[in-house]
Amino acid sequence: EPSPDERQFDDLIAADSRIEPRDWMPDAYRKTLVRQISQHAHSEIIGMQPEANWITRAPSLKRKAILMAKVQDEAGHGLYLYSAAQTLGTPRDEMTEALIAGKARYSSIFNYPTPTWADMGAIGWLVDGAAICNQVPLCRASYGPYGRAMVRICKEESFHQRQGFEILLELMRGTDAQRAMAQDAVDRWYWPALQMFGPPDDASPNSAQSMAWNIKRFSNDELRQRFVSMLVPQAEVLGVTLPDPKLRLDEETGQYEMSEIDWTEFNEVLAGRGPMNAQRLQRRRDAHEDGAWVREAAAEYARKQAAAREV
Ligand code: ACO
Repeated sequence: EPSPDERQFDDLIAADSRIEPRDWMPDAYRKTLVRQISQHAHSEIIGMQPEANWITRAPSLKRKAILMAKVQDEAGHGLYLYSAAQTLGTPRDEMTEALIAGKARYSSIFNYPTPTWADMGAIGWLVDGAAICNQVPLCRASYGPYGRAMVRICKEESFHQRQGFEILLELMRGTDAQRAMAQDAVDRWYWPALQMFGPPDDASPNSAQSMAWNIKRFSNDELRQRFVSMLVPQAEVLGVTLPDPKLRLDEETGQYEMSEIDWTEFNEVLAGRGPMNAQRLQRRRDAHEDGAWVREAAAEYARKQAAAREV
């Protein structure tokens, strides 16, 4: 016999309504939300690095301003998401400690290098494109603070995706060398972007429960299909080739057939052995240590303000 609290929670979920921070919720629901939202927040923060790498080298003042704004947006996304996770009772310090200790996950995609300017285009087009596919349905996630944070984030991601597309378009209209650079970046980012959606459905331990709780609305493979169907016409406009010779629309099922994704590579990256994992974490650790004085100053300022109020 479910308790009145449990019944109320189940009713809210059944009505596709929202759970708010003060509502009762099962421990497992809270736990999976903290897991997903904190990973998501860490991804945004770590995700600043591959693009920050190009701020000083962007090819014009305008490009530099756009890229800086974009990287700042990612910081903002991280902060909304840490705030959403905090409403579930996990302090931000705890999440940060787990990240810098190498105990927390963040998206596999941010463990790849950005050797050329075209990588800024490919990240915007493919990585932010994948993020939009994955995150638009999350705007309807049953947990209120998460869904609301996602609404703002998705608006900004749409801009990010277009700026990436536009970088690639300009390169594709350029010289042979620029076209080759754009294609090379697409070749390197395509498969890792497909891996962003997570393991195949039959190897995704969290999907069934997250879908039952209206956190996830579509399975990993469903979203991957959507993403590819969005990319194909855009690749045509750009004039780039998606690096999968087997990619083909099956007219009967409406599904794209594709080559097998390299899940060994994915698992290696998740295990911390991707091309850039060590550097990304080290940078994050250094930034945290370099920022200690800011945290101390802010805490001291807050203490003084509180003391002044007491007088
Ligand atoms: N990178 C790192 N870890 C991943 C990835 C990935 N691309 N995909 C799946 N995983 C992890 C899961 O977190 C899970 O590990 P955990 O149990 O330790 O948390 C494990 O692999 C198995 O995966 P699933 O059971 O499919 O996990 P889940 O149901 O949480 O689905 C997904 C994974 C789709 C990534 C989901 O968590 C999600 O939608 N997260 C929010 C979006 C997000 O994090 N985006 C970050 C990248 S894009 C950006 O923000 C710019």
